[in-house]
Parts: sequence; C-alpha cells; structure tokens
Amino acid sequence: MKLLVTGGAGFIGSNFILYMLEHHQGYDIINLDNLTYAGNLENLTSVSGNKHYSFIKGDIADARLVGDILNNGVDAVINFAAESHVDRSILEPASFIRTNVLGTQILLDSAKEKHISRFIQISTDEVYGSLGTEGRFTETTCLHPNSPYSASKASADMIALAYHETFHMPVLITRTSNNYGPYQFPEKLLPLAITNLLEGKHVPLYGDGLNVRDWIFVTDNAEAIDLVLHKGREGEVYNIGAGNESTNISLLKTVVKLMGKPESLITYVKDRPGHDKRYAIDPSKTMNMLGWSSRTSLDRGLKTTIDWYEKNREWWQRVKSGEYMKYYKKNYSAKGLKTQ
Ligand code: NAD
Ligand code: DAU
Repeated sequence: MKLLVTGGAGFIGSNFILYMLEHHQGYDIINLDNLTYAGNLENLTSVSGNKHYSFIKGDIADARLVGDILNNGVDAVINFAAESHVDRSILEPASFIRTNVLGTQILLDSAKEKHISRFIQISTDEVYGSLGTEGRFTETTCLHPNSPYSASKASADMIALAYHETFHMPVLITRTSNNYGPYQFPEKLLPLAITNLLEGKHVPLYGDGLNVRDWIFVTDNAEAIDLVLHKGREGEVYNIGAGNESTNISLLKTVVKLMGKPESLITYVKDRPGHDKRYAIDPSKTMNMLGWSSRTSLDRGLKTTIDWYEKNREWWQRVKSGEYMKYYKKNYSAKGLKTQ
C-alpha cells in the first residue's frame, strides 16, 4: 500500500508513521506536513533514510499540491494534520477553522477527484462535549463541541461523513481520547508537566484540578488506526480509548511521585475558559468489530513516557528553546518541496 499521512511531523502522526514502517514492511509512506510550530521532523530522524518513507513540506489546503501527490498511486489518506491545542484555539480560532475545517474539505475534494480507496479522518472525543459524572461517549452520542478546537474538529467530521453519504467516498473516522507518549509537544499537560519537573519548575494546574481526562498511550492509538485502515467499514466512526480516566490532580500527583519530586511543585492557576469537565470513551465497537484492545496500562505508559523525556532532553530542550524551528528555516524554503 501507498499511504499519504498528513500532519506526520506532529505527535501522533509521527508515532503512527514509525509504527506503520515497523509493522508493514514494504508499505510506502508520504508525509505531507507544513511544519507549523507543532511539526518536528526530528521525531522521524530514525526513518529519514528509509526508502519507503518520504517527506513533503506543504499544506493540506493546497489542492494542486495534494492532487499532484495523489496522482502517484496513493491508496489511502490518513489525515492527522490539524491545529490541535485547545488553549491556542481560545486565543486564535481562525487558524483552527482554516486547517481543521477548510483544509480537511480541500483534502477530501482532492481524494474524491483521484478516487482514493480509503480516507481516514483522525478526530477526537472532544467533539462529544463534556460529560457529567456518569456514562461514556459512544459513537452515537450527539456532538456538542465547546471550544473553537473541538467545534472545528466536529465540523470536519460532519463534512467527511457528508462526503461519504453524498459522493460515496470511502471515509472512516476515528475519535480518540487524550494521547500521551514520546514526541508530544510540551504545551500539552503531560509533556509540559514532565519537562517542567525535570527543569525543577512548577506545573500549572487549571481550576480546581478535578477535570477528568481518559488517557491512551500513543502506540495503542496507532495500532487501532492501523486496524481501522485495514478492517474498518466505510462511513463508520470508531471510538478509541483505553479506559484510563483520571482527574488532572490525581494524574499529576502520580507523575510527581514517579519522578521523585515534591507535590508542592503543582501550582493551581486560573481555569481554561469553557473547560470541559469530563471525557470518557466507550471503545466497545472498535474492540468488538476490529478486535482491538489497548496494551499499555496507565502506570506502564507513564513510566515509559517519563523515561523517554528523561533520556531525550535534547529533543524537548530544542523545542522549548525554539531551536528546532531554526533548523527548518535553514533547510526548507516556504514553498519548497524538498524531501527528507
Ligand atoms: P500536533 O499538533 O502534534 O500535530 C499536528 C501536525 O499537523 C503538525 O505536524 C503540523 O505541522 C501539521 N499541520 C498543521 N496544519 C497543517 C496544514 N495546514 N497542512 C499540513 N500539515 C499541517 O497534533 P497531534 O496531537 O499529533 O494530533 C494529531 C491529530 O489527532 C489531530 O487531528 C488531532 O485533532 C487529533 N487528536 C489528538 C489527540 C491528542 O491527544 N493529541 C487526541 C485525539 C485526537
Ligand atoms: O481529548 C482529546 C484531546 O486531548 C485532543 O483532541 C487534543 O488535541 C489534545 O490537545 C487534548 O486536549 P486537552 O485539552 O484535553 O489536553 P491538554 O493537554 O491541553 O489538557 C489536559 C487537561 O489538563 C485539561 O483538563 C486541561 C488541563 N491542563 C492543561 C494544561 C496545558 C492543566 O491543568 N494545565 C495545563 O498547563
């Protein structure tokens, strides 16, 4: 198979590419990413010389470029490309609408024109909104997004499903809970906490710290997406989650303990506006229909992740200092299509 992975220089996309190259020898993967602040080709250094992997710097909203890439025998598109951070969407919603909504629609159009045989839209549990203390999100839960980020992702889901209904496009959607693991940009809670603690800094905890998130190790998500790609049914949505609900305060206390740091480094700060209280994913459909289940317990995943950030200080220090962006400016021109 030849896959076009968009947003492959980001956290989940790069972990997915590494997973696929390891588990599907012979598959060709093209990574299309326009290298926003969140894109980091250093995530993919280990495969940069692999003849089955290539990188193209470009925008999913560039119909001509996407059309040219799809002309080269691409079988499936897996769309990870997005603006993904909720706090940024509150500060500056426009780029979220542009990439997550318009970009997805343009990508869908190109894939329709080229009769691509599989289009996987990577979505999020945040499209369902916020839960009370009871229940979990199923694929039939009504969409009720509350942030500009989740509203843009819900819009993309609706457009993708409309392309399936109207144009019979082979669209499938995954909705995943909070991912964590190696190569996550240190603006998200866990990598921010771990790297701050390694630097002896405080960890900001929003509001009362009682918001609940449902955590999944990124490789388990990659395995589920692989199954959706190969075995999923067109027009269907698949929830992916590992049943690891935790309040933020409880999660941070575990991290602090595992790292041998004092709890006093956890600092309560002003809450996020419109902060969703609780997410919890019911992954039964994905488990029953595709035979998937998560492999990594929260305890083991956290230990692996902390260990990775301890051993890869250079990676996150270059991200935190902004050094990684200088590398791109030198090696990739704004319009260039240099391959890695
Ligand atoms: P990320 O922010 O780490 O990476 C996003 C990538 O997309 C970056 O490499 C960026 O350069 C690229 N990109 C952004 N705009 C682009 C454009 N217009 N054209 C081409 N590339 C572009 O995000 P992530 O955490 O890896 O999330 C990947 C996908 O998974 C997103 O669609 C997100 O909504 C979804 N998701 C994330 C999580 C999570 O916990 N991180 C959970 C559920 C779903
Ligand atoms: O649920 C899936 C979503 O998970 C994805 O769709 C998003 O792309 C991804 O960013 C993530 O969104 P969250 O808003 O849940 O993740 P974040 O890491 O920003 O925050 C996790 C929780 O921790 C949330 O309740 C807010 C809180 N938080 C976050 C940060 C950055 C803090 O208390 N302090 C912080 O500094």
